[in-house]
Parts: sequence; structure tokens; C-alpha cells
Amino acid sequence: MNNKTILAIESSCDETAMAIIKDNILVANVVSSQIKQHQDNGGVVPELASRLHLENIDAVFMETMKKAKLTISDIELIAVVAGPGLIGALHVGVMFAKSIAFINNIKLLPVHHIAGHIYANELIDEFVFPVLAIVVSGGHTELVVMNDHLDFNVIGRTLDDAIGETYDKVARVLGLGYPGGPIIDKLAGQGHNIYHFPSPKINDADYDFSYSGLKSAVINKVNQLRMKKEAFNKEDIVCSFQESAIAPLIVKTNKAIQEYHINHVVLAGGVAANSFLRKRLQEEFTSQVKLTLPPLWCCTDNAAMIASLARYYDVDELETNLNFKVNPNKELVKQR
Ligand code: KG4
Ligand code: ZN
Repeated sequence: MNNKTILAIESSCDETAMAIIKDNILVANVVSSQIKQHQDNGGVVPELASRLHLENIDAVFMETMKKAKLTISDIELIAVVAGPGLIGALHVGVMFAKSIAFINNIKLLPVHHIAGHIYANELIDEFVFPVLAIVVSGGHTELVVMNDHLDFNVIGRTLDDAIGETYDKVARVLGLGYPGGPIIDKLAGQGHNIYHFPSPKINDADYDFSYSGLKSAVINKVNQLRMKKEAFNKEDIVCSFQESAIAPLIVKTNKAIQEYHINHVVLAGGVAANSFLRKRLQEEFTSQVKLTLPPLWCCTDNAAMIASLARYYDVDELETNLNFKVNPNKELVKQR
């Protein structure tokens, strides 16, 4: 751990967020969410997201410094998310970070958004390697094995839609609003699995996922029921959907625990807030391995997780290099 006073900046999607860790304590954590402004459009509008980041970023910065009771001269390292995410949204955070790093001669570290989600767990629990991270967000569904800090080895990923995106699309066809994940989470608890949707095809040979088939099955079922004017409960549809969406995560996690001799399973990404997934993981794995579920406040996008990640970089040799670019498709790979 580098023990620096770290300012972290996150603007990859629809949250403008900053956080400060000092002496290994989270002393400020500010998230300005744009969800309300995107709701009328049923999802994030990239151009609007960039504009709102620009409008909000100064205020988020001021509030973060105020909460931490620090000034910019106290900051020893700035960590900023350089990808993956929406290109315009990423640019706002990165340009802001580059400007304050340059003017104040502070070291600047570009980091990976998903690595941040994984390190949200380190805010509450120390990793016991080998770690398996189950990454479930709006844009990602991945299994990541780590044998050490920053040693990311993606062993499986979705071949098409991400799980969070599927939650959002299912909510949309049912007219439930955006973002769909938290709404489905609530409703599903009041329903029953009466539709038995096919679980995304599980290939025993690998760790990859596929959610487009399940998404189409749910949408087709809803359209059929509507066409036939058959009454149905949205609660039953989403409960049935969830059972099928979560099943492959459990099966593949189990397989990975055996094959990679995993000691510690951690959950990461916005869908980590899902109560059914949390319950299923607890039921299946608490007796087998150490299991960490991030607190709800650091599941969806925030900068506390980015600051947590930045603690593990050896930055003494790091130059303030302003030449890096944002990368909307940045891959999660082993870091230096
Ligand atoms: O990590 P995140 O904030 O943004 C990305 O990096 O994508 O994840 C957002 C996703 C959305 O798809 C949202 O619907 C989903 O996380 N989500 C949930 C829950 N809370 C947020 N999905 C299921 N259950 C929840 N409680
Ligand atoms: Zn995220």
C-alpha cells in the first residue's frame, strides 16, 4: 500500500464522483448522479451525460475537498478512470484530472473502472489470494482470478449482453423505469418462478456467459401474453427472469473455486447490489470460501472504490505523464 493522500475521480457513465483517502481512511466520498436527468429517455444518453459531467464536476470537487477538510496542496496522488466507459464522459473526468495535476504538480494515475469495482471490497475486507471476483455491472459480466494485488486474469466474460444491461432491458419492456435493476430486485421478491425461462446456455468447458437469449425469451413471452390479452403479474416475470439470470453465475463460480483453488470470492459492479444474487452467493459459498459482498453504498459507480484501488500502485517512481488517452474499451489486464 502506498499510504498517499489520494484524490480519485470517476466519470465513466452517469455518476460524477470524487473521493479522498488519507492515512488509509476514506475522508470524503461524493457522488452526483444523473439518473433523474436520463430517466425520461429510458437510459443514459451519452451526449447529455458528458454535458452534465461538465456542469457538475467543479461542484463535486469543491464538496469533496470541503468534506475532507483538505486543500489541493494536501493531495499526493490523483487517480482517474481512463476507461472503459462512455468516451465523452471519460474525457471530462480525465481532462479535469490532468488540469489539476498539471497546475499543482501532483502525480496522476490512470486506472481501470472495473478494477475499481473489484477494489470496493478492499474498503471493508482484505483480499486473501487467490481471489475470484464476480464482476456484474451495466457493461460487464466477467469472472476475474487474482493471485496478487493488481494481477487481473479475466477467465470468462459475456459473449453478448451484460447482465445489468439485461435487467435494464427487461424492466424497459415491462415499463418499470430506469435503471431497471433496483426495481426488478424489489418486485421479484413478490413473485414466483412460474415461467422457467431457459437459463443462459451454460457451456461446461469455459467460463463465458451469454444473456441475449434470456433477454429475447423474456421479451417474447411478455409480447405473447400481451397479444393474447392474457393477464400476468410483472412480479412473476421478473422473479422467473432473475432465477435464470443468476443461475450461470453460481455454476461457474463453483467451477472456478475448484479449478483455481480460490480462497476468497468477492462481488463487484452495480448488480452486486442485487439482493437475490447476494442471498444465493451466501447460501452456496459461505461454507466453502471467504465471501465478501460490498456494502450497498459502494456497489454502483463511485470514486471511493477508485481511491481504494489506487492505494495498491507503487507510485514513487511514477512521473506525472499527461499523455495518456481515454479508452472506452479498455481491457482489464495485469498491472505493473
Ligand atoms: O456498475 P454500475 O453502476 O455501472 C456500470 O459500470 O455499468 O452498474 C449499473 C447497473 C445497471 O444496469 C443497474 O440496473 C444495475 O447495475 N443495478 C442492479 C441493482 N442495482 C443496480 N441490478 C440488479 N439489482 C440491483 N439491486
Ligand atoms: Zn460501474
